[in-house]
Amino acid sequence: MDLGVKRGKKTLKFERFSDWRTDIQLRYSDGAKVLFVPTMGALHQGHADLVRTARALADSIVGEPTEVVVSIFINPTQFNEEQDFATYPMTPDEDVQLLSEAGADAVVFPTLEEMYPGGVPLVAEPVDYGTLTASLEGEMRPGHFDGVVGVVRTLFELTQPHWAFFGEKDWQQLAVIRQLVALEFESLEVVAVPTRREQDGLAMSSRNQRLSAELRMLAPQLHDALLRVAADTRPAVVEAAKKSLEAAGFEVEYLSVARADTLESGPLHQEEMRVFAAVRLGGVRLIDNVSCM
Ligand code: PAJ
Repeated sequence: MDLGVKRGKKTLKFERFSDWRTDIQLRYSDGAKVLFVPTMGALHQGHADLVRTARALADSIVGEPTEVVVSIFINPTQFNEEQDFATYPMTPDEDVQLLSEAGADAVVFPTLEEMYPGGVPLVAEPVDYGTLTASLEGEMRPGHFDGVVGVVRTLFELTQPHWAFFGEKDWQQLAVIRQLVALEFESLEVVAVPTRREQDGLAMSSRNQRLSAELRMLAPQLHDALLRVAADTRPAVVEAAKKSLEAAGFEVEYLSVARADTLESGPLHQEEMRVFAAVRLGGVRLIDNVSCM
């Protein structure tokens, strides 16, 4: 797939999905296949990869109109820390520029009213997908996946996509969304996009902007530790990797090996296993994962 194509076309901007819907009905009278990339903004090249992948897929479809649409919405119900929500970075002008370069047809910045017509719930409706929602991030951030599933369900209802694109950077989120789609959106196809990293291995994240220059130098050690465990998943190696991160100043929330599909931990058979980690560096929480294959 050629992901390097640059199109000169500007990305159309909307403040409501209802306005975008009216607009696509005018632009494509016979309807269009929708390729959807949900985000929370403060976009970087990892997000751009999702859009470029969607663009390349859209351009490979012959004889049918396509629409690559991105949403930017900082969803309050998936944050379990007030401070994290209040300080989540916002760069709307740069985001639209990046989306034009990556080939998005439209971007929607929906209002709170459109996303939560009955008002923002204090707690999101609970979601129980077993280990998928209970382990790792589910354990460390109670209610997080309740908020994610709730908002992604609403986003799918409003966009009615044929394809939706998610990053492997948030592997557990991807697995949770696959389960939501299997249960509730059978004609939708989820496309996974590999993690985009900085040259030193740090996974790109909107939250990296919050790292001081000093902590930014330390941050790639997280990826190094994941790779050491991926190469040798024995408990002693996991323990040593944890210890070395802690010695460098990381607070390790978890560093665990689990099945890629169900997120259950061992016993290890032939299934793909992955290493998952969440750490805090200064006040900044970072997550990452790599394959053991
Ligand atoms: P956000 O953190 O903005 O991420 C949007 C999408 O970009 C997610 O699918 C995420 O996995 C992907 N992404 C982030 N960093 C990436 C990287 N370095 N490489 C590849 N892909 C990357 O995830 C969310 O928003 C929200 O939870 C959302 C799904 C929008 C629901 O609110």
